[in-house]
Amino acid sequence: MTRSHDDNWDLASSVGATATMVAAGRAMATKDPRGLINDPFAEPLVRAVGVDFFIKMMDGELDLDAIENANPTRIRAMIDGMAVRTRYFDDYFVNSTAGGVRQVVILASGLDSRAYRLPWPADTVVYEIDQPQVIEFKTTTLAGIGAEPTATRRTIPIDLRADWPTALRGAGLDTTAPTAWLAEGLLIYLPPEAQDRLFDSITALSAPGSTIATEFVPGIIDFDADRVREMSGSFRDHGVDIDMASLVYAGERNHVVDYLGGKGWDVEGVTRTELFGRAGLDIPTPDTDDPLGEIIFISGGLSGER
Ligand SMILES: C[S@@+](CC[C@H](N)C(=O)[O-])C[C@H]1O[C@@H](n2cnc3c(N)ncnc32)[C@H](O)[C@@H]1O
Repeated sequence: MTRSHDDNWDLASSVGATATMVAAGRAMATKDPRGLINDPFAEPLVRAVGVDFFIKMMDGELDLDAIENANPTRIRAMIDGMAVRTRYFDDYFVNSTAGGVRQVVILASGLDSRAYRLPWPADTVVYEIDQPQVIEFKTTTLAGIGAEPTATRRTIPIDLRADWPTALRGAGLDTTAPTAWLAEGLLIYLPPEAQDRLFDSITALSAPGSTIATEFVPGIIDFDADRVREMSGSFRDHGVDIDMASLVYAGERNHVVDYLGGKGWDVEGVTRTELFGRAGLDIPTPDTDDPLGEIIFISGGLSGER
């Protein structure tokens, strides 16, 4: 399946299925006896989506011998990768709100349950933006199991290629107050110019004191579609609608740290390898690694010098 400028999806198809895939990773990291993270909503959400492959993956019922390129070491590397990523962005939000920010925007929120599980200060508003079917599914499923947001949660069901800033302001975002922004697992699904536009819009909506967190995947620039197809072949073989090679936008794009720096943000990057090291986890080898390789996690604040 190829991308188009107005494609859409639910949580079992296309880019939407990647949200279910990463939530399955969080569910597995939550169940892991090493106590890596605690996202109690990931598992019920993935079960409700109902993709058999991810349910079996969470339940440890996949026949790894029958799946090309799957082995316990690779699965463990995937779980550990989700754990360090989740912790990095959890810590980012805790630090931003400790610094006084009370408005949060989670772009491409997918099955992210932070609005239901982080210890937000009492007057925090969390805005979530994703495609309509994705937003609706998470809201309904979590209400169905009696989950309650731990902040005021406001949803903006819209495509991020449409005029989301107007929709966000319409939902109540106060552009005179600082905002903590998150774009996790999103940028590779946007064309390079859309990535720049996203950061331009974020900057235009950000008052002094705002913070931002995201990640940069250098492997998207010299992207090896054949290797990615080979390593994600197991999805296709098991009826999952994820062909990573056709979902991402490869090729040259601005480095996020440089681009944000040019817009007045003071951000720093830390490699996933460094986060594995800090957490005392085994660093993936090239053959157990994600086909997109290293990830640089980025966070910082608006310095005001534009
Ligand atoms: C890999 S998932 C990440 C979800 C979530 N941030 C997380 O880390 O669990 C990618 C998400 O990006 C969303 N997404 C990608 N392109 C989008 C677009 N143009 N408009 C709205 N959402 C988009 C998808 O719907 C999906 O939820």
